[in-house]
Amino acid sequence: MEGFPIINMENLNGEKRGTTMEIIKDACENWGFFELVNHGISHDLMDKVEKLTKGHYKRCMEQRFKELVASRALEGVDTEVEDMDWESTFFLRHLPESNIYEVPDLDDEYRKAMKEFAVELEKLADQLLNLLCENLGIEKGYLKKAFCGSKGPTFGTKIGNYPPCPRPELVKGLRAHTDAGGIILLFQDDTVSGLQLLKDGEWIDVPPMRHSIVVNIGDQLEVITNGKYKSVMHRVLIHTEGTRMSIASFYNPGSDAVIYPAPALLENEALDQSQVYPKFVFEDYMKLYSAVKFQAKEPRFEAMKAVENNVNSTPIATA
Ligand SMILES: [Fe+2]
Repeated sequence: MEGFPIINMENLNGEKRGTTMEIIKDACENWGFFELVNHGISHDLMDKVEKLTKGHYKRCMEQRFKELVASRALEGVDTEVEDMDWESTFFLRHLPESNIYEVPDLDDEYRKAMKEFAVELEKLADQLLNLLCENLGIEKGYLKKAFCGSKGPTFGTKIGNYPPCPRPELVKGLRAHTDAGGIILLFQDDTVSGLQLLKDGEWIDVPPMRHSIVVNIGDQLEVITNGKYKSVMHRVLIHTEGTRMSIASFYNPGSDAVIYPAPALLENEALDQSQVYPKFVFEDYMKLYSAVKFQAKEPRFEAMKAVENNVNSTPIATA
């Protein structure tokens, strides 16, 4: 298929449903990314979230970024800096319980808007997971259930801004990585570009589009689908002009959820053990990920598999 996959969600209700589901399937298998329009989240709410996020950045974050990062990071540097990202961020957690009233420097209007936005995004994530189940031919609700653990899925938002940089060739806004979690929903700036994904060895721009939501697949969905769906490398470039807003919401497994390939997807495949993805507890994966986020995902899967094999081969004490 040609070009970055764009899904008009209204087409899921009419005669174009079949071809739309095919585009989603191709996107999950070959791009790891797609972009949603007519996704049902109110444009007024998105405009409000954007205005409040940009206002908050100006008021509470910009000066801090200039003092901590912008004024020092590139002093005397003439080769690419590979141990930092040119970004200003903070995090909100929505599930299993919200921390939105504990995060400092947010006014009530911003808290309320982000809460409302998170509820809408959570509904959209649920809906997307079920569309993926349908495409995979597995029972509706399977993916959500796989994420549940004892307290339900984890859902959080990383609010980021990528300020302009005098030497954008020396540093990335965010270095290349795959996302560790489940499914990620991104509300990105509609004028300042920068997000790129890696496809067939080439970096491809994720096109900014007003009121769209960009979706990508995290490592956990690659494991559960045993590699049918791909978690794909992406990065953020910066520019000399313009601050890029990025509001990324992560719908992830609960910390104690046990993640493994869906048995229904392995049934009719003649696979040897080396072709089956590992089984692990999500928080163990996250511990590893936090140390090696900016490295390829394959060694992470291998490492989890080695741990799994060790656990399985430990003799059980019976005496
Ligand atoms: Fe990411």
